Amino acid sequence: MPSLLLLNIGTLVLAETHPCSFAAGKEMCHLPAVQNAYLLVENGRFSAFGPMEECPERADETIDAGGGFVFPSWCDSHTHIVFAASREQEFVGRIRGLSYEEIAQQGGGILNSARRLRETPEDELLESALGRIREIQLLGTGAVEVKSGYGLTVESELKMLRVIRRLKEKTAMPVKATFLGAHALPPEYRENRGGYIRLIIEEMLPQIADEGLADYIDAFCEKGFFTVAETEQLMEAGARYGLKAKVHVNQFNSLGAIPACVQKGALSVDHLEVVSDEDIQSLIGSNTMPTLLPSAPFFLNDPYQPARRLIDAGLPVALATDYNPGSTPSGKMQFVISLACIKCGMLPEEAIWAATLNGARAMELEQDYGSIAVGKVANFFITPPLPSIAYLPYAFGSDLVERAFLKGKMVMDKRING
Ligand code: NIG
Ligand code: FE
Repeated sequence: MPSLLLLNIGTLVLAETHPCSFAAGKEMCHLPAVQNAYLLVENGRFSAFGPMEECPERADETIDAGGGFVFPSWCDSHTHIVFAASREQEFVGRIRGLSYEEIAQQGGGILNSARRLRETPEDELLESALGRIREIQLLGTGAVEVKSGYGLTVESELKMLRVIRRLKEKTAMPVKATFLGAHALPPEYRENRGGYIRLIIEEMLPQIADEGLADYIDAFCEKGFFTVAETEQLMEAGARYGLKAKVHVNQFNSLGAIPACVQKGALSVDHLEVVSDEDIQSLIGSNTMPTLLPSAPFFLNDPYQPARRLIDAGLPVALATDYNPGSTPSGKMQFVISLACIKCGMLPEEAIWAATLNGARAMELEQDYGSIAVGKVANFFITPPLPSIAYLPYAFGSDLVERAFLKGKMVMDKRING
């Protein structure tokens, strides 16, 4: 593969000389960066960077960044981008006064998506999901996690996971697959919760493991969905197949799911709109990444995640979109970062760590993605010249990703194609 040299980079953001696995607490307010920098890519990986005075003589291809900033691509560690149809009627229902939980109780919400997904052929799901991958690629995302959870039958959960496997094959960015059979109780099991948990554990999981379809297991632990005890049972079952947990917790209530997930060695706990002091205590010293999804409360008009309390307690935080048809029909990480700053009190530097390296960590991809370091995969984007790093979350309505690269190859140039 030809080498690529980027010249005249205004600021090379998150350029690590000694790469770390994640950033936590106070570390998050300092972003390593090189001003007036060059960046060399060889064989699809970063091979050198530094100030322009130390720039190598030549490469096969040269790009003049013209003072634009270079960022490592966003690492979006929580999405549901395989789905059959949008749900804007529920959005209108909420404007008229219904809550997310009320819509779910009336058979809307996740069950609405499950009905539509069950009748949609695999190829059609793949086409629409690929469209969403292309969309997030244009928005600067360079690694993504995708969940099942709109199937809720053996056949349809497997169908979703097979779509995710095909996404992995067809996409230049890494894709992690999470099995979310416990997303909602399907109507057939309304009077038989135990039966559905058994279906997940005894039928879905063995087949998924057999075909190697999932990297992680998830559950929606919330009032009206799955209990802490059920979530624990599912995490244990997943662990028997080598699947670590990434769990939907504390979206509307703090039920004790966070300590339970930490105790089971979960890779991440996600949502966290409602967090108690005990929840925070349980996370300290653990390997579980608190993952905040602020565009969900934005869309649902809910309270935002208390990022400051988490970071001030010395914890790391990751940011992800939660892109899905019900609570967050958006895959735009730049907007998530703006919300994290404006609504959750995160500093721009903290939000950028959270949306890159810490997100990579929440998908176990931090060795190869999430920052600009020699040897890491060259997934990055170039912005126009910016007055400072803080301008990125500040300019919340501007799309600042101008040219996007995956494995060192340009996949989008907004200056040419839109
Ligand atoms: O993360 N909260 C649970 N699951 C998704 C929403 C799913 C849906 O409404 O379709 C979420 O917000
Ligand atoms: Fe989610």
